[in-house]
Amino acid sequence: MLDFPAGIDEYATAHTTVPDSVFDDIAVDVEATGAAGMMSGRSVGYFLNTLVTISGAKRVLEVGTFVGYSALMMASALPEDGELITCDVSEDFTAIARKHWARHPAGKKIDLRLAPATETLENLDPPFDLVFIDADKKNYAFYYEKALELLAPRGLIVVDNVLWAGRVLGPDDAEGEMEEDATRSIKSLNETVQNDDRVVNVMLTVRDGMMLIRKADAHLV
Ligand SMILES: C[S@@+](CC[C@H](N)C(=O)[O-])C[C@H]1O[C@@H](n2cnc3c(N)ncnc32)[C@H](O)[C@@H]1O
Repeated sequence: MLDFPAGIDEYATAHTTVPDSVFDDIAVDVEATGAAGMMSGRSVGYFLNTLVTISGAKRVLEVGTFVGYSALMMASALPEDGELITCDVSEDFTAIARKHWARHPAGKKIDLRLAPATETLENLDPPFDLVFIDADKKNYAFYYEKALELLAPRGLIVVDNVLWAGRVLGPDDAEGEMEEDATRSIKSLNETVQNDDRVVNVMLTVRDGMMLIRKADAHLV
């Protein structure tokens, strides 16, 4: 694990703005999925919401919808004519998302694409101002390359889980084959980004680690 004292993540969450009650309702419904740990939650949610706000983003792409928490957080920061396209493969998870989006004014800005994201991303028109990558880890390298293609010149890519609960510090082994593959994919993407001259990147220790990536345009350095 990271060298943070126990309880630090809860402390950070407790010192982050309390969102609208719809987000609490999503957090209740996520328990029934048996995969509550996949939901971003308040601190990551407001971090993304703030990035959308300060960047003035109008078009956002999310890879990995789950129960729609992060999508609704980002959509809430978009202007009225903004749009957020979000990709997932699960009817069940996204049914929870749709139920709650329908109750929130920002829900109408969200366009869910229910198909493997590798397919959806092949058929999108650029540019996107912000791309949030938070789906199956084995395809992270593909999502990163596609995100760069689709990104506006001053756009931002945000990759979640880049610290993978600290497993990036160890060997590529963990609990079972799936974890091994995920750890390897995340470590590999982190190295790719770090050695990629096309981008400027900063890795943050927000929750499970978030990498911010922008194009290394000379005008922006
Ligand atoms: C970590 S969750 C997303 C969490 C969400 N962004 C949030 O912050 O609350 C990952 C999601 O990726 C979806 N997923 C897995 N494989 C996928 C694929 N090939 N294409 C699209 N979505 C996929 C899963 O169904 C799951 O809902």
